[in-house]
Amino acid sequence: MKIDVGKVGHELQDSLVELVDLSLTAKQAHWNVHGPNFKSLHEQLDELTNDVRAAMDEVAERAITIGYAPDGRAATVAKASPLHDFPEGPVRDQDAITLIVERLMLVGDRLRERIDTLDQLDLVTQDLLIGVLAAIDKHRWMFAARQA
Ligand SMILES: [Fe+2]
Repeated sequence: MKIDVGKVGHELQDSLVELVDLSLTAKQAHWNVHGPNFKSLHEQLDELTNDVRAAMDEVAERAITIGYAPDGRAATVAKASPLHDFPEGPVRDQDAITLIVERLMLVGDRLRERIDTLDQLDLVTQDLLIGVLAAIDKHRWMFAARQA
């Protein structure tokens, strides 16, 4: 079966935009979090950043592999991302956890829908996004477990 580059590329592009935004958000939280749980949260947010960056690289490279040019430019991400803006300035540890969990839930829900769509389009891309979703789900669990 020949890959529908437009359709599969579109699913990858939407995933890329969300992951780039999530990686920037995780770093923003890493820098601005404060409170009694600062140190461990600061480190956990960097683990999230690293995993999301690895995932977005795989997603973008799958796109170009099938012949779809990934667009990870700041302006594109700002325009297309469904994630709400992360608040400006310092953020309390418990608030940071809530904000991150909300975003991990949103990204996870959207990946889950995309995985269903890809069932009929491209199983290799579907498999890639399943791996990404497993990582997002795991991070969501690890942040949610810290909610007061
Ligand atoms: Fe750092």
